[in-house]
Amino acid sequence: MKGMSRPGQRYIPALRYDWLTPLYDPILRWTLRESAFKRRLVEQARIEPGHRVLDLGCGTATLTLLLRQAHPRAQVARLDGDPKVLAIARAKAARVGVTLALLRAMAFELPFTDCSLDRVLSSLLFHHLTRENKLRALREVLRVLRPGGDLHLADWGKPQDCWMRAAFLLVQSLDGFGTTVDNARGLLPHLIREAGFSGVRESSRYKTMFGSLSLYQAQKP
Ligand SMILES: C[S@@+](CC[C@H](N)C(=O)[O-])C[C@H]1O[C@@H](n2cnc3c(N)ncnc32)[C@H](O)[C@@H]1O
Repeated sequence: MKGMSRPGQRYIPALRYDWLTPLYDPILRWTLRESAFKRRLVEQARIEPGHRVLDLGCGTATLTLLLRQAHPRAQVARLDGDPKVLAIARAKAARVGVTLALLRAMAFELPFTDCSLDRVLSSLLFHHLTRENKLRALREVLRVLRPGGDLHLADWGKPQDCWMRAAFLLVQSLDGFGTTVDNARGLLPHLIREAGFSGVRESSRYKTMFGSLSLYQAQKP
């Protein structure tokens, strides 16, 4: 079952079905080189003390906790559309002695004022959005970033070879072909540009059990 926020505002839960959400962390840890690519995303964001940072589509908050650990003096907000995954995030943070304020909101309706953030990081959210919602979310990110602020995004990219293409069929079967086809075609950088960002580039690429994972960075002009 797809989750629902308000009528017409759907989100796809972390592993598409609510009953799979508790398995999300172990699956990611053992299959996706999660620690390597999330640490790289945090590094490339070059966060400074006092920066206002958003983890967009934070899920179980693994990236948020890495951010907090690496940059204790940054102000890190985190947001997800799914109340069940946010409950897991809260419990996970409590186990390591951290209290997290978590926002429940849609990626394409961000509860932040214009130009109020220095960095937006997002991991594995965009393949959950239709093309229209990818663009809406990217335009929202552009709105809330200050001029010169950066977006750092990790998600499925264009497969490097036929093995990676075949592996990605598993993700597509689970999360749906409609939201993942633009990832498989390597269109994310084009959509980021279309939303109004400059300096868009793929900064790293990983081969994983489920396909090619790309890291991108882009700047608000
Ligand atoms: C695959 S999980 C990724 C979670 C986390 N960022 C990570 O890297 O492990 C995708 C997350 O995006 C959230 N999501 C999907 N559609 C959303 C939307 N429209 N607005 C906000 N969150 C959304 C889901 O609830 C889920 O937690």
